[in-house]
Amino acid sequence: MNLRFTNEQEMMRKMVREFAEEQITPFIDEMETHETFPESIIKKMSELGLMGIPIPEKYGGAAMDFTSYIIAIHELSKVSATIGVILSVHTSVGTNPILYFGTEEQKKKYVTKLATGTYLGAFGLTEPSAGSDAAALKTTAVKKGDHYVLNGSKVFITNGGEADTYIVFATTAPGTKAKGISAFIVEKDTPGFKVGKKEKKMGLNGSNTTELILENALVPAENLLGKEGDGFKIAMANLDFGRIGIAAQSLGIAEAAFEAATNYAKQRKQFGKAIGTQQAVAFKLADMATKIEAAKLLTYRAAHLKDNGKRPRQEASMAKLYASKTAMETAIEAVQIFGGYGYTKEYPVERYFRDAKVCEIYEGTSEIQRLVISKQLLN
Ligand code: CAA
Repeated sequence: MNLRFTNEQEMMRKMVREFAEEQITPFIDEMETHETFPESIIKKMSELGLMGIPIPEKYGGAAMDFTSYIIAIHELSKVSATIGVILSVHTSVGTNPILYFGTEEQKKKYVTKLATGTYLGAFGLTEPSAGSDAAALKTTAVKKGDHYVLNGSKVFITNGGEADTYIVFATTAPGTKAKGISAFIVEKDTPGFKVGKKEKKMGLNGSNTTELILENALVPAENLLGKEGDGFKIAMANLDFGRIGIAAQSLGIAEAAFEAATNYAKQRKQFGKAIGTQQAVAFKLADMATKIEAAKLLTYRAAHLKDNGKRPRQEASMAKLYASKTAMETAIEAVQIFGGYGYTKEYPVERYFRDAKVCEIYEGTSEIQRLVISKQLLN
């Protein structure tokens, strides 16, 4: 594995970093205070080609490698984890399932719009009683003529209500768990499909998280992705790559918390000297930096394997498990270093603390990542 980024990848990092600092920073307060969805930012990201970084040019994408896409999520999340997750869900699980498993017609119809940012994508797997046990989902899809009729509900859908297309998973053979699950491309104005309540969350305040309700939703039969029964594998295969995106998001949060804590530790004086020169704080910074380096190596290694045609299932889970733990631990220590100030909204570390937690939960909890890793080890 080459530990140096290519010139192209470095250019992506520089471009995204500048964009995030100049365009996203001024919008953070709006997202935090009013939970405003960052539509104007997404429009600008579309103009820069960020909504389809790893998508081939023929489908409207920037045709860059997966590592460049991971660099973008990492840099965006350093400024705003909200923007990071919107892009990650849109690309990894909102667009890629169609790119990897769709027909040529589906790719032309949907990927071209998603990759250019004309459409925003979302992913509907989780249900009220099927979270970690995704194969236990209850939403049904019954073929009637040239349509499928979908009934059920989904929860915790990132980009819900803002997305134009949703990859929705439903069973076409109830009682057969994973084997009976099928995947559908559901457009937002599908009859019988509606967006339910918007969650009030601990963090990621600018990102929409909603329910989806399917009541006799009429989905054209040509919107089935792959074949009937392919759905679970489509979900899992794309989550493998999606988890590298969440690892990159975690990395962004961890680095932001670390940088804030380091700068503060250099200028905050107690007992007559900067707190960073006192061992209790200096050692915290050393641990934070070490964990971040390890998380970075795991994350970019998983991306590198994907770029080299591998299926990094175990590596993606390891990256997500470790990077999300690092984000949480780093954010907790950053708040501690800031002391009372860290607990106020005057400084960003309390936001990093709140945003970090969900990285250990969505796209598979840390417990599920350990399950995936251990299954691979024992097989
Ligand atoms: N790629 C391809 N196929 C896979 C796969 C993968 N990564 N993982 C499993 N499969 C296949 C298996 O090979 C098996 O196929 P066969 O029967 O042909 O052998 C089939 O799928 C069933 O596999 P398992 O028996 O391993 O399935 P399971 O029911 O035990 O579940 C699990 C495995 C890992 C626990 C899975 O349910 C899982 O990942 N759960 C977590 C769900 C999750 O991550 N949800 C995230 C929601 S999306 C989200 O959060 C987005 C957001 O908004 C931010």
